Amino acid sequence: MDFRTTDNNRFTVTTPLYYVNDLPHVGSAYTTIAADVLARFHRLQGKSVLLVTGTDEHGQKIQRTAEGLGRTPQAHCDQVVAGFEALWHQLDIKYDRFIRTTNPRHEAIVKEFFQRVWERGDIFLGQQKGWYCVSCEEFKEERELLEEHRCPLHPNRETEWRDEQNYFFRLSNYQERLQAFYAEHPGFIQPEIRRNEVLSFVNQGLQDFSISRVNLDWGIPLPTDPSHTLYVWFDALLGYVTALLEPEQEPTLENALAHWWPINLHLIGKDILRFHAVYWPAMLMSAELPIPNCVFGHGFLTKDGQKMGKTLGNVLDPVELVNRYSSDAIRYYFFKEIEFGRDGDFNETRFVNILNADLANDLGNLLNRTLKMVHKYYGAQLPAIPEEGSLAENSLIGAGRELGDRVGDAYRSLAFSEACEAILTLVRMGNKFIDEQAPWSLYKQGRHSEVEQVLYTVLETVRLAAYLLSPITPDLSTAIYTQLGFKINFNDQTLIHVSAPFSAHSRWGILSPSQELGEPQPVFQRLELLEVVSL
Ligand code: MSP
Repeated sequence: MDFRTTDNNRFTVTTPLYYVNDLPHVGSAYTTIAADVLARFHRLQGKSVLLVTGTDEHGQKIQRTAEGLGRTPQAHCDQVVAGFEALWHQLDIKYDRFIRTTNPRHEAIVKEFFQRVWERGDIFLGQQKGWYCVSCEEFKEERELLEEHRCPLHPNRETEWRDEQNYFFRLSNYQERLQAFYAEHPGFIQPEIRRNEVLSFVNQGLQDFSISRVNLDWGIPLPTDPSHTLYVWFDALLGYVTALLEPEQEPTLENALAHWWPINLHLIGKDILRFHAVYWPAMLMSAELPIPNCVFGHGFLTKDGQKMGKTLGNVLDPVELVNRYSSDAIRYYFFKEIEFGRDGDFNETRFVNILNADLANDLGNLLNRTLKMVHKYYGAQLPAIPEEGSLAENSLIGAGRELGDRVGDAYRSLAFSEACEAILTLVRMGNKFIDEQAPWSLYKQGRHSEVEQVLYTVLETVRLAAYLLSPITPDLSTAIYTQLGFKINFNDQTLIHVSAPFSAHSRWGILSPSQELGEPQPVFQRLELLEVVSL
């Protein structure tokens, strides 16, 4: 994938900054896990990685929610943010920055940026008339709306008619420059289907958009006219910049942009594509700042084939889900089962079946039965392995030698399900190999050298699979590595590229004969079907 990285040694990835009107939903968990998987993959390769996540706390939606709950907006935000942080810990998300748009340092960045755009002459006062969807925090065009001016994304809420003075950003000035930019950087919007959506939207002609609100206190006042509050999206997108400041640094654009900018990848859901792929680059062009390398808009999750919604009563609660099953189980299902970029479905029966088949049976049992044999035949020591080259080549070893490159390419291009599929194919070959070779009967015949070769080959297959799955299933991979005698914890990301570098561990033949093996214990408990309560 073309991230147009100027510095190949660093990788900056962001999740959206989530609204805090409510606790995190499964869609936010989906994007955040994806960002974490990528960050882990790039850390294994020794890159310096910055994973940015955070919360978008201003605006009408949050203000009204807080009022409804009888809280001050700040107290409300603090409470919900704690829920986000707790869930990210439960899901093993190793973020480097958590930016809150209510952080006072953020206001300094926003004001400096606003000033640049203002001085460019790209902001003017005008009259805004139109239907506003508070849930989207967006004016909708008449042609986008359903009956009774309802928003297609929030059909149960009414849009509100607004006719007020607002400040506008001259988006129309940037139409041609944006078109030229998309043409020069075909990898900027991904996947292809999203790129086409954006191109057709821009080709229809861009309208200036309003960037201030009146009658709203919960936000950042316009530096040039404090009777207006800055539009929440203008404020929120700049959170990506504020997040790049070092903790003690003075909050200036120069400091924020010095090291981690331009961002390599904005991971987002497809519903917020326009903000990231049209408004955001135009705002940056106006401020004369470099543009991020890629915006990837993933698909939506449905539950049992239906759109999730409170009125349907089928919203999956990620906290319930992780409490009932494990973080690894959720992470694996999302990325094995759903092609990243497309819509995908969550179905509990399929969830349990896939986890049991792939991780408990194919991978977990393969390790368990092989390790038991090693213990029975040779004690805790891995049998002496014939020198590299004298090990009988077979199709399993051949496939194992190629796997690291294939999986590396898949991760790099965000083809997570392809990575999982390739790894599991090797694991299934490992099961077939051990059944065909039947080391238990070779042992009875006293053919020890062959037994040793078979057991080593299978254990190395399991190790390789565990390593390559580690960005997705870090707990399981750590458990497997521990049983194979390594002292490596994939959840300890500091210096992981030194203790388990991709260049070595993604290759065949890392298990060494002197390795002291652990006790065979199930590494992945079979799941029982427990219906998760819907909100
Ligand atoms: N606050 C803005 C983002 C500002 S970024 C500077 C926002 N927040 S959000 O909390 O509403 O959005 C969260 C993310 O969740 C979006 O990327 C959205 O696409 C994603 N999802 C919301 N529902 C989803 C599903 N059902 N499935 C997958 N992702 C979904 O928008």
